[in-house]
Amino acid sequence: MAESITITDNRTGESLEVPILNGGVAASEWSKLLPGVWFYDPGFMSTAVCESAITYLDGEAGVLRYRGYPIEQLAEHSTYLEVAYLLLNGELPDTAQFDDWRREVTMHTFIHENVRKRFLDGFHYDAHPMGMLVSAVAALSTFYLDAKDIFDPLSRAKQITRLIAKMPTLAAAAHRFSVGMPFVYPDNSLDFASNFLSMMWKVAEPRFEADPALARALDILFILHADHEQNCSTTAMRVVGSAHADPYSACAAACAALYGPRHGGANEAVIRMLTEIGNLDNVPAFVEGVKAGNGRLQGFGHRVYKSYDPRAKIIKRTADQVFAVTGKNPLLDIALKLEEIALSDDYFVSRKLYPNVDFYSGLIYQAMGFPLEMFPVLFAIPRTAGWLAHWQELLDQDSRIARPRQLYVGTDEREYVPVERR
Ligand code: CMC
Repeated sequence: MAESITITDNRTGESLEVPILNGGVAASEWSKLLPGVWFYDPGFMSTAVCESAITYLDGEAGVLRYRGYPIEQLAEHSTYLEVAYLLLNGELPDTAQFDDWRREVTMHTFIHENVRKRFLDGFHYDAHPMGMLVSAVAALSTFYLDAKDIFDPLSRAKQITRLIAKMPTLAAAAHRFSVGMPFVYPDNSLDFASNFLSMMWKVAEPRFEADPALARALDILFILHADHEQNCSTTAMRVVGSAHADPYSACAAACAALYGPRHGGANEAVIRMLTEIGNLDNVPAFVEGVKAGNGRLQGFGHRVYKSYDPRAKIIKRTADQVFAVTGKNPLLDIALKLEEIALSDDYFVSRKLYPNVDFYSGLIYQAMGFPLEMFPVLFAIPRTAGWLAHWQELLDQDSRIARPRQLYVGTDEREYVPVERR
């Protein structure tokens, strides 16, 4: 059977056969038959915007792979820095490549003093750390003017290294400012996650020693969040990147998308929801309320996963390792009860609503001492690797500027009326 479809324009009787390639049909083919007739697809529900070789996701089967490697294997055996290299370069590094990459990233962890002293210190005392991060990432473009040379391979590699390396420094700086604590410089003798924890929590001790179990748990969370194909923030990165903006400006746009509660803010909403539920006895009534239309079950449901999010399974296991060190988050029992009730309720089952990555990640972050405002920031640190991998892939493809069409439904032409006659 031919791997194709045939469309017929019933106005003219003309038909066109369009091949199905890699699971898609080229819209440009349709346009040959239907010039001026646009696909109406709000939220890109049925649109593939690019070809990509970075992340494979099968939402029905609950499968997630980076460059072909199952997320479960990466979470068990790899590190965030190695995964970042994999996403950006397509292959896992050998020992020499990894040593070079780690050294490069480590050498770029410091931020320009003016970013901290003049820029970050200029925020209002109660600024949200994610708002600070969005702005600080954009501001970096003014410090690295070579970032505009996006087709120079050396410049591109330099900006990628800088962004991966500086995100934890900016993130921790935003937190320290928002709680009135002095900035902590990177300690380049530490690994990626431990260095971030040091910049977050160091007080007067000469050297901050993160608990290895907590540093590893954070690194696993970074691996799980590193990429997720064409999600909202990655799409923002690609759209801005398609205009050939520098990577800092494009990354700032991606961060801004991640700031939204439907995306990077969902784990914060989960904690607020669990806190509001308060105790186990209130869970059934809360679920009934959601079914009756009173809000959503935060951390449940996903645009593409129609089964258990594979990242949520790994996070649930990681939570036990974290709680062994920090003590159990008291909200965990409410979360488990909520999941148990929802997964046996026809409302959620029939809509294929399962826990997503955010359902348990917030519990871990909270147990580790991160304030709620830092949750989207913690998401942005590792997702930077994914954003940059997609940005690089986009530039290496013969891509056009992102410029969708619209279906105009406004008023027809009319005459301007002077204000005194309106
Ligand atoms: N609780 C209750 N009902 C829900 C939920 C939920 N969390 N999610 C979807 N539904 C219902 C929705 O009301 C609709 O029902 P009906 O067909 O009767 O109108 C049906 O399920 C389909 O929902 P939808 O809004 O069309 O689905 P979507 O693909 O547009 O939205 C979503 C996906 C993630 C925004 C949504 O599931 C949601 O709001 N979840 C809660 C917030 C959340 O956890 N977000 C994190 C997403 S994962 C992190 C990331 O990738 O950034």
